[in-house]
Amino acid sequence: MSYTTFDRGVKIAPSILSADFANFGAECRAVEAQGAPWVHVDVMDGHFVPNLTFGPATVKALRPHIKGVMDVHLMIAPVDAYLPAYAEAGADVISAHYEAGPHIHRTLQAIRGLGCKAGLCLNPGTAIEPVAYLLDQVDLINVMGVNPGFGGQKFIRSQLEKIAALRQMIGAREIHIQIDGGVARDTIAEIRAAGADVFVAGNAVFSGGSVDKPQVYGDNIAALVAAAG
Ligand code: DX5
Ligand code: ZN
Repeated sequence: MSYTTFDRGVKIAPSILSADFANFGAECRAVEAQGAPWVHVDVMDGHFVPNLTFGPATVKALRPHIKGVMDVHLMIAPVDAYLPAYAEAGADVISAHYEAGPHIHRTLQAIRGLGCKAGLCLNPGTAIEPVAYLLDQVDLINVMGVNPGFGGQKFIRSQLEKIAALRQMIGAREIHIQIDGGVARDTIAEIRAAGADVFVAGNAVFSGGSVDKPQVYGDNIAALVAAAG
């Protein structure tokens, strides 16, 4: 476990969906060295979302390359049967989608039972009312800023209102609000103002850089933090 204490400060979580797939280990080390406290790992099954990435063996192989928080976003359905494999792979946070099955309460309980922080992901078209009945089961709520499946999409602005409503619902509870998709220098301030604290960023971190030009990642991360205000 690399997750230590809860805080609501701005945390940039680079999404390796935008990294060089042939060089994941070095990419994770590079973004960490450039100031990223979390690394976001997108698992897609080609069924729940129309794209396919990798499974638990790859996530396990990444673990030694991530000293900070390894944040695993499961875009898979069904999800329950695969949770032990991702916990075993060393995930600190495992997030599952509300839309991925009929028993999200059970799924969140199972994630915590495996010793991980439990994340609940909401697609852009999903309402927040059910979250009221899950507040005791979650450590993180991932508000999707785009329809999941691909990086580099435009931020869906209606999600700002959703974040603000969730922030109010959460109150003093130690629950992170994560935004995933469409985070950029020109959107992050409004998202921060609405109440998010973990900012997943694919294109906004990796564009222009590489493991040979890692300072670009550092500049991109610093620019996002500065723009968040
Ligand atoms: C989308 C993924 C995101 C994605 C974000 O399905 O869950 O993590 O990589 O990409 P950007 O930041 O480029 O919108
Ligand atoms: Zn994601």
